[in-house]
Amino acid sequence: RGKKAFIAGVADDNGYGWAIAKSLAAAGAEIFVGTWVPALNIFETSLRRGKFDGSRVLPDGSLMEITKVYPLDAVYDSPEDVPEDVKANKRYAASSKWTVKEVAESVKQDFGSIDILVHSLANGPEVSKPLLETSRKGYLAAVSASSGSSISLTYIASERIIPGYGGGMSSAKAALESDTRVLAFEAGRKHKIRVNAISAGPLGSRAAKAIGFIDTMIEYSFENAPLQKELSADEVGNTAAFLASPLASAITGAVIYVDNGLNAMGVGV
Ligand code: NAI
Repeated sequence: RGKKAFIAGVADDNGYGWAIAKSLAAAGAEIFVGTWVPALNIFETSLRRGKFDGSRVLPDGSLMEITKVYPLDAVYDSPEDVPEDVKANKRYAASSKWTVKEVAESVKQDFGSIDILVHSLANGPEVSKPLLETSRKGYLAAVSASSGSSISLTYIASERIIPGYGGGMSSAKAALESDTRVLAFEAGRKHKIRVNAISAGPLGSRAAKAIGFIDTMIEYSFENAPLQKELSADEVGNTAAFLASPLASAITGAVIYVDNGLNAMGVGV
């Protein structure tokens, strides 16, 4: 039977999450997505109205089907954790069961267990502020939303200085990569589950545009990376499909660069 894949962090057809969903669908997986609550309505409406049909086309010409879209806010584990103002917020009140535990339970109830879990979300409310000026609240919010789970997306700002990637996002990515290793050990021993991260190069996604310097980073990468070409989200998607497949059966605890090789450069050229 086809594997079931849950991709958390899909709210349009521009980001890495969407491309990963497509690559997994092309490889035969059944697709479930977790969509951030405030973005749910517009995403579902756009899907229904066919706005994404052009980007749903798979290599064999068929359209990617999303079996179910689950509202999700990855910052809250269970209803007790949700502050009153969020509960009262119109967009949150319009859906239910969007905390992490509830989504996990709903998926289990609806479809049984999941084979592939992808974390493709991040949120740094103060990402445009230098770390030095980041508030405790902003820092903790970045770490809370942006580190976690089996395949995740990280960025080289975790290990090298990337001015402009602020608000504690560099710290969140460092936590994510460290968790990738420790979880690989624990989940590997306990459940034989593999845990890996993809360190992706710059992509002009919605989240990246919020940082402000994404076009500069794309240009910098083009100028300086060993492979002088645009990085396509599909290349990250295909790597995720590989990592989730039996072809990667001995790979766990790894951070794989998919960045046209930029990470290997010591100086700009
Ligand atoms: P994106 O905008 O497509 O994806 C981010 C998603 O996170 C959005 O769908 C947003 O709605 C969701 N989200 C934010 N807070 C959430 C929460 N509390 N609960 C649930 N969902 C939430 O952007 P992109 O860039 O594709 O991001 C995917 C991953 O790739 C992120 O982890 C990002 O840090 C990582 N990445 C992106 C790079 C880039 O240049 N775009 C480079 C390296 C890593």
